[in-house]
Amino acid sequence: KPWTSAERYRPYADYSADYATALTTAVDTSAYKNTYHIQPKTGLLNDPNGFSFFNGKYHLFYQVFPYGPVHGIKSWALMTSPDLIHWTDEGLKLFPDTIFDSHGAYSGSALPLSEKELFLFYTGNTRGENNSRDAYQNGAIYTQTGDIHKFDAPLLRTPEGYTDHFRDPMIFDTHGHKFAIIGAQTCEEKGTVVLAQATNDSLTAWDYKGQLQFAQEEMGYMIECPNLVFIDKKPVLLFCPQGLDKSIADYDNVFPNMYVIADDFDVESATLTQAGKLHNLDDGFEVYATQAFNAPDGRVLASSWLGLPDLDVPSQADGWQGMLSLVKELTLKNGQLYQYPVVETISLRHEKQNITLSEVATTIDSNSYELEIELRQDEENELYLFANDDNSSHVSLKIDVKNGKIELNRANLPVSWSENYGVTRSTQFTPGKAKLNIFADTSSLEIFVNDGEKVMSSRIFTVPENTYLFAKNSLPATIWQLKK
Ligand code: FRU
Repeated sequence: KPWTSAERYRPYADYSADYATALTTAVDTSAYKNTYHIQPKTGLLNDPNGFSFFNGKYHLFYQVFPYGPVHGIKSWALMTSPDLIHWTDEGLKLFPDTIFDSHGAYSGSALPLSEKELFLFYTGNTRGENNSRDAYQNGAIYTQTGDIHKFDAPLLRTPEGYTDHFRDPMIFDTHGHKFAIIGAQTCEEKGTVVLAQATNDSLTAWDYKGQLQFAQEEMGYMIECPNLVFIDKKPVLLFCPQGLDKSIADYDNVFPNMYVIADDFDVESATLTQAGKLHNLDDGFEVYATQAFNAPDGRVLASSWLGLPDLDVPSQADGWQGMLSLVKELTLKNGQLYQYPVVETISLRHEKQNITLSEVATTIDSNSYELEIELRQDEENELYLFANDDNSSHVSLKIDVKNGKIELNRANLPVSWSENYGVTRSTQFTPGKAKLNIFADTSSLEIFVNDGEKVMSSRIFTVPENTYLFAKNSLPATIWQLKK
């Protein structure tokens, strides 16, 4: 049953130990639990936050409401890892416990200040009378010893001209200065990105620098989760426009996660110069709020929420929803953005098998594998995953190499959900060759086409026995089981 607003904002302390134990049991025994992805221990996970390298480890926080599979009052949970593969759950770190974040420690980012201090920049969501919203951009220090020290007062308040949809500060370091971009809605209800600059080294003082210029067209009514990274010195802006007119850039999901590649970042005019066209970051069913950062080893690393706002997900019946994608490296090849799981992901592989997929069922132990196939020239084929033994239920992937087209169809699954936005997604790739690296986990599917030229990421809900694979025409493939 839907949660009321009062229930969503109920303090954590009001939940009994019995309630928490029952929820944990439900999630632990959920047949939809993934085996090698980050997902919430209980409740709802949404945006990745504060993705950074600090104190010798990668830090990846995420938005969580731990007491139910709904958008309740959010905290930041933390995962750390030496290698982006083995993650340690450090628990909840940033709580909604001050007057400037009383109704949610919303999304934000991180930047190490020293070996001892990681600066966190986040939105404090507060609600006043009649459910009116006030947003504050707050700062906190996460220490080497795992403690949080919040600053007493917000670092930025919403300037004139914007509504209270003003959030998700993303901090970055360029041209010798520290900047932040914030997702915003103007009083005319237009989506935009606002730029701010730190005026001291401790990042406690900030000035607004106006709106970031990156497109001529209107960006819908709100932009969430903007981030700016530099790949081969080129600025790449990732963002989530809401209400974007489809004549500007077409998309199928309720809200897209998009990007533009520019030539340079002109600080004075707050402009991404020569910004290119808008593109969908991912052509699958569920990707949102991707957070990327320039890591100290020179790579640009990204993590996405495999979910979307306002979506009912079958795993809610088991007390959880939402998961993070694999960690992807972003690169540019011939001016195009590529995304591919970080090279460390190979270490998950074990038990390699060379198989031939066909109309005869291939049986596998579980839906936790990487499958690699390669089609050439004018081959056409259809691949069926998450199938039952007679292939009457499955996810299908139609591949047309000549025309460089892939269609993913999830109409034929035993669990139906989220059909309002259609049951197919398609993508175009450079014709002539289709090498697919397909990462299946129990309730997720991430498909990388031609080493990351295109990506399709989706949630898949089926029954546990649907672990068969088929292909329309005989298709050689390599499959690896992936370690938990
Ligand atoms: C995006 C978002 C952000 C906000 C957060 C709250 O999914 O709506 O704009 O900060 O989620 O959890």
